[in-house]
Amino acid sequence: MFKRIFGYTKPYRRTLYTLAVLIAIMAGLQQVSPFVSKLITDLLVEEGLTNFSTLAFLLGLVLIAKLIQTGLNRLTWFITNIFVVKFEIHLKQLGFDHLMSLPMSYYNEQATGKVMSKLDRGVNRIINIVNNSGMHFLPSVTSALISFVIAINYEWRLALLIVIGFIPYIIINRWRFEKNNKLEKKEYKLYDNQFSHFWEVLNSMSLIKAFRAEGYERTRLQEFFSKYLALREEMESNTNKSVAGDFFLELMLWAMYAYIVWLSWQGQLSIGTLVMLVSLIQLMREPLWQLNWIFWEIKRAQVGAKDFFKIMDVKEQIPEPQNPQSIKKLKGKFEFENISFIYRHEDWAAITGFKKKNNNNYQQKNLAVLKNVSFVIKPGEMTALVGPSGAGKSTIASLLLRFFDPDKGKITLDGVDLKQLSKKDLRSYVGLVSQDSYLFAASIAENLRYAKPAASRQEMEEACKIAYADKFIGDLPNGLDTEIGERGIKLSGGQRQRLSIARTVLANPQIIILDEATSSLDSESELYIQRALRKLLRNKTSVVIAHRLSTIQQANKIIVLKDQGILEEGTHQELLKKKGLYAQLFDIQSGQTKMLKEWGLVQ
Ligand SMILES: Nc1ncnc2c1ncn2[C@@H]1O[C@H](COP(=O)(O)OP(=O)(O)OP(=O)(O)O)[C@@H](O)[C@H]1O
Ligand SMILES: [Mg+2]
Repeated sequence: MFKRIFGYTKPYRRTLYTLAVLIAIMAGLQQVSPFVSKLITDLLVEEGLTNFSTLAFLLGLVLIAKLIQTGLNRLTWFITNIFVVKFEIHLKQLGFDHLMSLPMSYYNEQATGKVMSKLDRGVNRIINIVNNSGMHFLPSVTSALISFVIAINYEWRLALLIVIGFIPYIIINRWRFEKNNKLEKKEYKLYDNQFSHFWEVLNSMSLIKAFRAEGYERTRLQEFFSKYLALREEMESNTNKSVAGDFFLELMLWAMYAYIVWLSWQGQLSIGTLVMLVSLIQLMREPLWQLNWIFWEIKRAQVGAKDFFKIMDVKEQIPEPQNPQSIKKLKGKFEFENISFIYRHEDWAAITGFKKKNNNNYQQKNLAVLKNVSFVIKPGEMTALVGPSGAGKSTIASLLLRFFDPDKGKITLDGVDLKQLSKKDLRSYVGLVSQDSYLFAASIAENLRYAKPAASRQEMEEACKIAYADKFIGDLPNGLDTEIGERGIKLSGGQRQRLSIARTVLANPQIIILDEATSSLDSESELYIQRALRKLLRNKTSVVIAHRLSTIQQANKIIVLKDQGILEEGTHQELLKKKGLYAQLFDIQSGQTKMLKEWGLVQ
C-alpha cells in the first residue's frame, strides 16, 4: 500500500529526498535545546552566576538553533505544500488518462457518479496519507526516536517504562481500528451510492418532473442519510475506545517523570540531567499523542486509496497491437467472418468488486447478440442494416469501431484484422453519427471542431449547409458561436442530429456509419439531408442503419438482421421479390394496408 503510493511519487523523488534530509536536520536541532538546558542548569548549580561568557555562548547556541529551525520549518512546509499540489495534479491526470483508456464496456457497467466519487476521494485520501504520514508523522517520530535514544543513554530503565506503557496502548488502538475499518468501507460505499444518486437525479430532471418523482427521490436520499448518520454514530462511539489507550499513555509519561524525580532525589542524577530528561520526555510526548490521530487518519485514507487503486487496476480489454499494421491506400472493405458477440456483465463486476453477492437485482445475464454472422461491406458502396429493435444493428457499428472485440470470428478492413490496426488509425478512417447525438456544453463551433480542430469557418459553414443545419444556426443569436447547454439541451432532437451529421461531414472520413442519423427529422428535412448525404457518400463506404426503409432503397446491399443472425440480404428489389420480412415491413411503411387489415389493425 505505502509502496504503491511511493511508486506514484517517482517523478518527485528528488523533492522527497530533500524533504527527508530537512526533516532529519530539524529533528536533530530539536534536541539542542534540552541538551543545552542541561549544560546551563549544571553550570548554574555548580558555579552560580559567574561564568557569563559560557552562559552567553550557550544561550546564543539555543537562539541560533531555534532560528535555523524556524527557517527550515518554513522551507519544509513551502516545499511540501507545493509538492502536495503537484502530486495531486499528477494523480488526477493519471486517473483521467486511465479512465479515457478504458473500454466502452466498462462505462456500460459502471455508474459514472460512483467512478467519479471513488476517483476523487481516492486522490484526496492518498494526498492525506502523504501529508499526514510524511509531513506530520515522520518528523515527529524521528524527533521522538532521537530523544528516546538520548534519554535511555542516560537512564536505560526509562525504555522499560515506555515499552510497558505502550503495549496496552497499541492493543487497544488495534482493536479500535479493526472495527473502524469495516465501518469505513460501509461508509464509503454508502457515500458512493449517494453521490451516484445525486448525479443521476441531476441528469434526469425532466424525467423526474414528468413522473412527479420528486418525493420518491427525496425519500431515497433521506434513506441514505439516515444510514449514514447511524454509521457515523457507530464510528464515533467506537472512537471512544481511544480514551482507554490515551489513559495508558498518560500513565506511562507520569511514571517516567516520577521515576526521574525519584532518581534525582536519590542523588543519582544532576539537576541539569533532570531538566534535560524532562524536556526530552516532553519532546516524545507530542508525537505519541499525535500517533493516535495520525494512525486514524492513515487508516481512513487506506480504504479510499484502495478504491483508487482498484480503478487504476482495471485493464484495457481492447489491447493495442504490438506492431500495428497500416493501410497504405484505404479502400474501405469490411468483412465479418463468423462473428459471435456477447455482452458480458460479469467481467467488470469481478474486477471492480462492485458486485453485491446474493442480490437478485444485480444479477444480470450475459446477452448473446450475434451468432456466427458473416457478411461483406464492399468498398465504395452503401450497405444498409435493418431489423427489429434490439437486433444488434448498433452493436455492429460498435464492433466496426472496435469499441468491443467479437468473442469469436474476425473482422477485417481491407484484409487487415481490426486487432492489427492501431485504434487511432481505425477510428480516423471511420466516422460515426450515432443514435444518440452527443454534444458538449460549448459553442457550436467548438462542437464542430471536435471533429477537425483546424477547421476554418468556411469549412464549418459548408458542413452545416450539407447537414441542413445552416438555417437554424443562422437563426441563433450568435450563429456558430452560440453556446449550447449541457448536452445540447437547448437544441431540439432534430437540430442536434443535424449538428452531429455536420460534425462527421467536417471530419470527412473515408468510411461513414449513420446509425438512425436522420430519425428525429421531419420528412422534408430528411429528404434534403438524404440528398446531400448521397452526394457526400459517393465513392465512400457507408453503413446506414435505418428503420425508415424509404431512406435506404438505393443501398447497394440491405442486410436484414433478426434473432442473432442475418435473415436475408440483397438489394431493395431482390428483397421485395423474396416477400420476406423486409418486403412485409416495406409494405406496411409504404402504406399498403393489406397486412394491417389482415391483422385487424385497420378497417
Ligand atoms: N452496452 C450494452 N451492454 C449490454 N447489452 C447491450 C448493450 N448495448 C445493447 N445491448 C443489448 O444488445 C441488444 C442489441 O442492441 P443494439 O443496440 O445493437 O440493437 P439495435 O439493433 O441497434 O436496436 P435499435 O433499433 O433499437 O437501435 C439489445 O438487446 C440490447 O439490450
Ligand atoms: Mg441501435
